Formats: sequence, structure tokens, C-alpha cells
Amino acid sequence: MRKIKTLTVKAEKKYKVYIGENLLKTCGKILKTEVLIKKPPRRILTVCDSRVAPLYFDSLKKSLTDAGFEVFLFTFESGEEHKNVDTLSKIIDAAAQNRLDRHDLFAALGGGTAGDLCGLAASLYMRGVRYLQFPTTLLACIDAAIGGKTACNTTYGKNLMGSFYSPDAVIIDPVTLTSLPQEIYSQGIAEAVKYGIISDRKILKILLGDFDNADLIYRCVKAKARFINKDFTEKGERKILNFGHTAAHAIEKVSNYQISHGQAVAAGIITAIKYSEKCGVCGKDLLRDIMPIYHKFGLCDSAGLPPCDLAAAALCDKKSCGENVDLVLIKDICRPVIVKVKKERLKDFFEVDL
Ligand SMILES: NC(=O)c1ccc[n+]([C@@H]2O[C@H](COP(=O)([O-])OP(=O)(O)OC[C@H]3O[C@@H](n4cnc5c(N)ncnc54)[C@H](O)[C@@H]3O)[C@@H](O)[C@H]2O)c1
Repeated sequence: MRKIKTLTVKAEKKYKVYIGENLLKTCGKILKTEVLIKKPPRRILTVCDSRVAPLYFDSLKKSLTDAGFEVFLFTFESGEEHKNVDTLSKIIDAAAQNRLDRHDLFAALGGGTAGDLCGLAASLYMRGVRYLQFPTTLLACIDAAIGGKTACNTTYGKNLMGSFYSPDAVIIDPVTLTSLPQEIYSQGIAEAVKYGIISDRKILKILLGDFDNADLIYRCVKAKARFINKDFTEKGERKILNFGHTAAHAIEKVSNYQISHGQAVAAGIITAIKYSEKCGVCGKDLLRDIMPIYHKFGLCDSAGLPPCDLAAAALCDKKSCGENVDLVLIKDICRPVIVKVKKERLKDFFEVDL
């Protein structure tokens, strides 16, 4: 077996991220001997969507069962539209039906949808039980599973319900990425580009060459963990992780979620770079470094949506409050800066794409 790499995230509690090939098949022993030592759970409820369950649940179940845990499965229909209160409530019911108690454990197996729902359910069941993340999309490996944000959508918007609630460990098996459709894989690349721009230029270099997913994931998780370790609840420095996301969230909303999150992030990053140049924050031609990566992975550089609609959508974002909006701009690679912009000037930000 190849080496397992680990990183530590220091949020409201410390936990480890394990990255290694075939970890799904071998994690039971690690969990038993390293992670779940105090008050070991007897039962584990795995939360998994309908596409991922047939691919990976059996391997994980075997590994956990061999380590002495009793394992149950809750599945929900794959897709963002099922990240809702109904599914959340069914997860809690499944835990109760399978008689999980407060020392037992939830496990998210899948992309960000399963991870967000499972984390939120874990934070609510019996006022909080432990949970693990087993992310299986690139986006979930480098972003959604790291950082302890949990969520579900409501009738009035995306991720309107949620909590900050860290897992006890994140177990990443890059082999699972081999079954991902290319367009879903590329959505994670947009987030990797973001980390490359705001915090680790080596990631941009990696993306241009032939690379091992484990190496890419390791560097991206390390980049994200640095921000979380300083500011878990996003009062300050963690806001830098929103680079490209003010525009991305608006693009997703105005397109009625027809443009995927990853493509919206890709376009949002370009908007943020162009605006940084336009207002003199950035004097470098950063797009020259970024566009070859976009071409390689088929990422979108502009959503072509009306700036006033995007500005209106950005004003309704849950992160927009008060008279100003915090925009994350970039001076140069690894030199992000948070700039306050009056809400009425937000249209200028979106006009850079015209
Ligand atoms: N909590 C956070 O900090 C955070 C950060 C970013 C995104 N998110 C959330 O994450 C969600 C998006 O995550 P996502 O892109 O992983 O979406 P997803 O979980 O819906 O997965 C995308 C699709 O890929 C399939 N899939 C997953 N793993 C697979 C595999 N290994 N092989 C084949 N198919 C596989 C899924 O069944 C689904 O159809 C959104 O709800 C977003 O709000 C959360």
C-alpha cells in the first residue's frame, strides 16, 4: 500500500485528514486505533447518495465491520435538489430507527451534498453526535469536507440552514475519483485554481503538468486548513476563501442553477481578477497564468449574464450584510486582499466581463 499522508485541522477541535489510495478499504483499523479511541461507537450510520452507494458502500462497510463496528446505510436520491429538510429529517429518523445513541457515529460517504447533510444531521441528532467525512468528489475532498461547515437548502435559498460542526476525521481515498465524470471532476479543479491564486502558486504549476490526485489534494487541503486554523467561524481571514465566490454564487442563482458551482467559481475567479486589475489593485497579468489551466480542464471564463441581475443576486446573498460587500480581490499570486465595496457600486464589479 502507498503511503498515507496526514494533515491536522485545528478548528473548534483538532482533527486529522488522511489521504491515501485504497483508504476506504483499510480505514477501519486506523479509525479504531487512532480516531475513535475515546468512547468508541458501536454503530455507524453511513449517509450516501444513490449513485455513490453502489460504487463504494460495500468496501467501506467491510472495512468498518472488520474493525468491529455495526454499519447501517441511509441513501437519498443524488442531486442538489435533495439536499433539503426532508432528507435531513429522514437521516435523523434512520439514526433513531437503527438505535444509534449519543456515543455512536455518522459517516458521510460521497460528494459535498452527502457531506453537508450528514454533518448537519450529526450536529442535530441527540444535540450532536460525532461524524466522519469520506469525500468522493474532488470538490468535496479539497473543499466541502474540510472546514466544518454543514448545510441544507430551504425553499428560500441554498445553504440557508447550517452549522459549524467539525468531523472527527476526514478520510480521503483518491481512487474514488476515478469513477467521477470529467465535468464533475473539473468542478473541483476550479477550487484548486482558487487555492493556487490565493495561497500556493505550486498548485497552479501542478495543474499544468501530469499530476497525482493525492498530491493535488494534499496541497489544497493544506491551503484551506491554514485559513480555518486561524479563523474557524469566518469572522476575518477565512473570508479570503470566498475569492471568486461572490460572483459565483450570483451566477449560480441568476442561471437558476443551470450553471454548475464549479463553472460558476471558474467564471467568478476571472471576474475577481479582472476587477482587481481594473481598480488598480493588481498590476500583473494574472490571466496569462490561469487561462492555460482553464483550457486544459474546460473551465468557463465568463457566464455572459447581465451585470445588473448578478449585482441584484449578490445583494441577496447570505454573506452580504450592512451597507458594504466584502470583495476578495488579488494583488498578485498569494496576495489576496479584502476590499469593502458600497452595495450600489457592485454592478461595476460585474461589468468587467462585458
Ligand atoms: N461545506 C462546505 O464548506 C462546502 C463547500 C463547497 C461546496 N459545498 C456543497 O457541496 C455540494 C456540491 O458538492 P459536489 O460537487 O461534490 O456535489 P454532489 O455531492 O452532488 O456530487 C456530484 C455528483 O457526483 C456523484 N458522485 C460523487 N462521487 C462520485 C464518484 N466517486 N464517482 C461517481 N459519481 C460520484 C454524485 O452522486 C452526484 O451526482 C453543494 O451542495 C455545495 O453547497 C459545501
